[in-house]
Amino acid sequence: MRWLDKILILLNDCFAFGLLRRNYKLHRFHGIINKKYEKKPIALEAYEALAERYAELIDTKSENAYYERPATISLLPEVRGKRVLDAGCGAGVYSEWLIEHGAEVVAFDVSPAMVALAKQRLGDGAEIRRADMEKPLDFLGDADFDIILSALALDYIENWTGVLAEFYRVLKNPGTLIFSVGHPAMRFMLDKREDKSYFDTRLEKTEWKGFGAPYVIVPSYSRPLEAMITPLIDAGFRLERICEPRPGEDFKRADPESYERLSRFPGFICFRAAKD
Ligand SMILES: C[S@@+](CC[C@H](N)C(=O)[O-])C[C@H]1O[C@@H](n2cnc3c(N)ncnc32)[C@H](O)[C@@H]1O
Repeated sequence: MRWLDKILILLNDCFAFGLLRRNYKLHRFHGIINKKYEKKPIALEAYEALAERYAELIDTKSENAYYERPATISLLPEVRGKRVLDAGCGAGVYSEWLIEHGAEVVAFDVSPAMVALAKQRLGDGAEIRRADMEKPLDFLGDADFDIILSALALDYIENWTGVLAEFYRVLKNPGTLIFSVGHPAMRFMLDKREDKSYFDTRLEKTEWKGFGAPYVIVPSYSRPLEAMITPLIDAGFRLERICEPRPGEDFKRADPESYERLSRFPGFICFRAAKD
């Protein structure tokens, strides 16, 4: 990529997150460069293709139902009576859990198909909308939520600075952010390229077979642990706890082969951070 493109993309990101918005002339300039450099959500196409099958399997798929979800939920504080934002809600399985446990839920996702499925699942139980977390969350006010939950969605965001600044803004003080992503060590082990470096944040394309045929290529970013924790702390959060889930007996019964693998190798990592 040419150096000029790189500078313009950086400028465009600064505009998008309001860092340069106050200057009117620059604002007009943003309109011009935004047309060419606006980022398209990298996983949108993949999730549009996967949405129906994702919604069908997500309640019982072992990696989610018996592994990632219990670990992420174990990090949640009491949700009853709390206002919770489900960021990257997919088909709404977490939102449903939150509602069942007494929370008031606002949820969003970038995929219209996922939003439709979440609405189907949740009815009037939650406010659900389409939004891209790589852009400012203008539809949300400051200090509006007690908890933000973002499960397996930040893997699709290259630069976490903007989204974490927005999460910090819309959280009350005190407030809690819980999120899960692919484990950096797992991502590194899966990548067989000789020129790979654990320390790079890089775009990878993986063919997902777990949701059945036709298989879908899902692009996502892998990054080192440092590139997860540093922007979190820089955004103002205090890291409270991490969880590297291990599969339990229910997982073993459902999927003995993956149980062996995930008992020895990491799959996901979950974080709890506080705004206080
Ligand atoms: C692996 S799914 C997880 C869905 C849900 N949180 C769950 O655990 O079932 C990832 C979700 O992130 C959404 N997503 C990807 N990029 C996004 C973005 N830029 N903004 C909002 N959502 C995004 C996808 O559309 C997809 O629904």
